[in-house]
Amino acid sequence: MCGIVGYAGTAGSVETGLPSRAVRVVLEGLRRLEYRGYDSAGLAVLAGKRVHVRKKAGRLANLSALVETEPLPAAAVGIGHTRWATHGAPTDANAHPHLADDDRLAVIHNGIIENYAPLRNRLAMGGHEFLSETDSEVAAALLADNYRSLVGNRTGGDTLAAAMRRTCAELEGSFTILAVHADHPGLIVAARRDSPLVVGLGDGENFLGSDVSGFVDFTRRAVELGQDQVVSLTADDVTITDFRGVPVAGRDFAVDWEAAAATKDGHASFMAKEIHEQPEAVRRTLGGRLGADGAVSLGDLGVTDEVLAGIRKIVIVACGTASYAGQIAKYAIERWCRIPVEVDLAHEFRYRSPLVDGRTLVVAISQSGETMDTLMAVRYAREQGAPVLAICNTVGATIPRESDGVLYTHAGPEVAVASTKAFLTQVTAGLLLALHLAQLRGTGDPTEISAAARELAGMPAKIQTVLAGEARIEALAASMTDATAVLFIGRHVGHPVAMEGALKLKELAYIHAEGFASGELKHGPIALIEAGQAVIVIVPSLTGSPVLHAKMMSTIQEIKARGGRVIALADEGDAATGGWADTVLTIPASAPLLAPLLTAVPLQLFAAALAGAKGLDIDQPRNLAKSVTVE
Ligand code: G6P
Repeated sequence: MCGIVGYAGTAGSVETGLPSRAVRVVLEGLRRLEYRGYDSAGLAVLAGKRVHVRKKAGRLANLSALVETEPLPAAAVGIGHTRWATHGAPTDANAHPHLADDDRLAVIHNGIIENYAPLRNRLAMGGHEFLSETDSEVAAALLADNYRSLVGNRTGGDTLAAAMRRTCAELEGSFTILAVHADHPGLIVAARRDSPLVVGLGDGENFLGSDVSGFVDFTRRAVELGQDQVVSLTADDVTITDFRGVPVAGRDFAVDWEAAAATKDGHASFMAKEIHEQPEAVRRTLGGRLGADGAVSLGDLGVTDEVLAGIRKIVIVACGTASYAGQIAKYAIERWCRIPVEVDLAHEFRYRSPLVDGRTLVVAISQSGETMDTLMAVRYAREQGAPVLAICNTVGATIPRESDGVLYTHAGPEVAVASTKAFLTQVTAGLLLALHLAQLRGTGDPTEISAAARELAGMPAKIQTVLAGEARIEALAASMTDATAVLFIGRHVGHPVAMEGALKLKELAYIHAEGFASGELKHGPIALIEAGQAVIVIVPSLTGSPVLHAKMMSTIQEIKARGGRVIALADEGDAATGGWADTVLTIPASAPLLAPLLTAVPLQLFAAALAGAKGLDIDQPRNLAKSVTVE
């Protein structure tokens, strides 16, 4: 978590009263990276042989206001940070940058330094006075210590980089660290281990960012930093070494992220925009992969057909929304491919001694491709000899890079913290994978499989139909702003959809919500039903799953008998549901395994509308971050 930006260029002037380019670039980069955390923000610039810092708790807007009231001098170099708090509350003091070496060194950090407690004790005994509760300030103090001892022994331009390398060797955990020192005007030194950092190459200026969005407005040329590397950046030079100081070459790549994609495009929030982009996003995931005859071709997956033909088990690892997409894929793969599938939350996977080997395909699903829990699961799986396939949205991210193969979802940038189009496209990719495996291995009912493949091609249009019902959902949400708890139930693939609906409501509207399998209701949760308790019911298809539909009708009656308020999502023409539920939101009929592409949408609209009606920040809900790069 946390967003990091760096800029090395020329100072220009501040005579016009505008902030210098360094400050503008850093603030703009932070604005784009704010999705990574927004507990506080801060920046440091180097000017007049001094480090100047501004930092503030709360959203980036607070920092921007501070920079306006307390302007910074013209500077050639700046670093900035937007924080998702791990160690220490979101206060001004805990905001980055942290200072050391008599305020001549400023450091920003993303990640967690696991051995910070012994280091902090040692440095405090050595005289460092800590001003924050963060693990990050320990990195600043340690870097200052190492710098001081190296400066005593030698002079020369790379003292700060040498001190950084020495510091990194002492740190345990994950980190991206950027440092500037008053002794080295024009220079930023940065290091990374298990946390992301990319370099942007400009003309007479260079950039650093947690990801390319940190500098996408200024350059499209980028260099990927590898694991355990240190980079020294000036306006016209980028030097990369490993932690021992051996020079390494970075891998250049062109940024294809559309800068314009990070605008709201007339919508009230990024989330609203991304919800409405879903038909197009799903179309992109399907693009070129689904023939008119229903044949699926996934191109060069990176995991060969021979390997796929020989696998005996699939383990899907993911977190949050992505894990619910994985659960939907499980239903499709088991039915169509007859391969056993386990779905593990990535943070549980490697700690339970899972049984994986060369004939287990591990599928890692991640929008960002940077989620640390999922990355660690990928590494563990590969150590066990399992082939790993990533389903990912972000091209070139760490998880696809470290996997054997990747199926990109091509959803385009997702800015809102709550995942929407990423989810639908992950579900689509999971269905494509299931169809591909079934066709490759000759499993399942061929008629059902080719019908599902053909129907998948028509799903974007059906999603559009669901979106057309937005006004009704908004009215429903507006009537529920006083709700303190909402239950979501579903059967079969409706179960993960129920959990996703509950997650959306929790994260956006701060309402206690629980999603569970409706068959479980009678085993305990029914005790929660009292007069007026809202239950959102994802009703199985009347024609596709008549048996499950009938059981759901009984469940609805059990809820009604206890005074509950039933809000049902049901297929158009499902008169039985209409007879029992208080409110029915209809969706176009579809094959049961494809239905999540439709049933998830009203739940997204509902959560966003309810949060909006409560006046909450839809794109940046409290306490969250989009890319969770700590374990
Ligand atoms: C965070 C986000 C969720 C997301 C999860 C996994 O918790 O808030 O929306 O589902 O991370 O993210 P990933 O990038 O791996 O899909």
